[in-house]
Amino acid sequence: MAAADIDRVLVRAARRFGTPLHLTDVAGLASAAEELREAFPDPWLRAFSVKANDVPAVIGRLADLGLDANVVSRGEWAAARAAGLTNDRITLEGIGKDAGDLRAAVRAAADGAPLRWLAVESPEELDALVAIGGRAGLGRGGRPALEVLVRLNPDVAPETHSGLAVGAGSSKFGMTETELTGAVASLGEGGPVRARGIHLHVGSQLGAVDAWRDAVRRGLALLALIGAGREGFDTLDVGGGFPVGAPGTVPAPARFAREIAPLLRALPADRRPRRLAVEPGRFLVARAGWLVASVLHVRDRGAAERVVVLDAGMTELIRPALYGAHHRITALTSLGVAVDATSVRFTARVDGPVCESTDTLDRHELPALRRGDLVAIADAGAYAASMAMTYNGRRRPPQVMLEPDGSLTLARRRG
Ligand SMILES: Cc1ncc(COP(=O)(O)O)c(C=O)c1O
Repeated sequence: MAAADIDRVLVRAARRFGTPLHLTDVAGLASAAEELREAFPDPWLRAFSVKANDVPAVIGRLADLGLDANVVSRGEWAAARAAGLTNDRITLEGIGKDAGDLRAAVRAAADGAPLRWLAVESPEELDALVAIGGRAGLGRGGRPALEVLVRLNPDVAPETHSGLAVGAGSSKFGMTETELTGAVASLGEGGPVRARGIHLHVGSQLGAVDAWRDAVRRGLALLALIGAGREGFDTLDVGGGFPVGAPGTVPAPARFAREIAPLLRALPADRRPRRLAVEPGRFLVARAGWLVASVLHVRDRGAAERVVVLDAGMTELIRPALYGAHHRITALTSLGVAVDATSVRFTARVDGPVCESTDTLDRHELPALRRGDLVAIADAGAYAASMAMTYNGRRRPPQVMLEPDGSLTLARRRG
């Protein structure tokens, strides 16, 4: 959609639903899903990593576009179910799974509606799962075993912000090759848990493909090694991480996908994975999302830096305060009227409304603004609504969907 058109839509949404508000452009979800499908076509399994945006309406629209769901807790699992996904389209992974999460996965399997798989983070977690699964009788008396992937820490140097480099050896995520091999070996045949393969995730917002290629190569080699002695150990999930940025500045999913074919060719045909999966979050939703805010104050004190305070900040979009992320901000109105392309711009620091001085959204070129003017914060569809908090007693913004026919629907009320 052209910039002027989306600006008009955002103003319309703000007048109708108030600010701050999140808006998701459904056509934007569709084009990202299509680009992902072209890069990783069937039979690749493509799941949306719900942590990027846990609004059921967003998960549901992506599900309609063929995306399954990858969740990290019962809460996200419930959001995926509320979006209409059945358990066989949901995978559960993540370092924070507690005993209740493991019990819920075992119960679903015992009830005949298993998750597609659960990815295990550590040998201790696997032992706990085996104990719970054994008590529930999984793998006995006609009850199928619970299928798991084991998470490999690929020990690479991801080309991203250190806060997003989860595939580094020093990170808390996943197992070393030795731990992983031992964990799989501890699973007897016919037990309550069946190892189906390897899961890995290199990091988020990857600026280059090199660490990803190294990690996938390691995952494939380990899968082949273990699979040689273990029937059905045949699945590799390569995680997410595809970045979002101005065209030409970051590698597209197709660029990552190009690395796969030579890696597979290097393996004997009978040692290649039978199932391959990818689970991006950000790439599918970031650019389809906007955060619309109103100006609360303008501090214009001569020599001092101009400061604009909005009614949205770290409570609605924590990424700038958390790791210095920069989101483009544009004015939708200037002194109460539509912005004229020729109007003079000033550099202003844009801050949020929360009682923390780290609540800032960086510096931007903006026209003259006054209280009540509207601004749009771009690329706010990922790790914004799902990371929101209620600090300062703030209410969760409404979630508005821009339908492909141009209409606006309210997917979630102001909380
Ligand atoms: C295991 C795993 N998979 C997928 C993702 C999604 O990452 P992204 O949003 O960068 O695609 C994450 C993000 O932290 C993750 O930890």
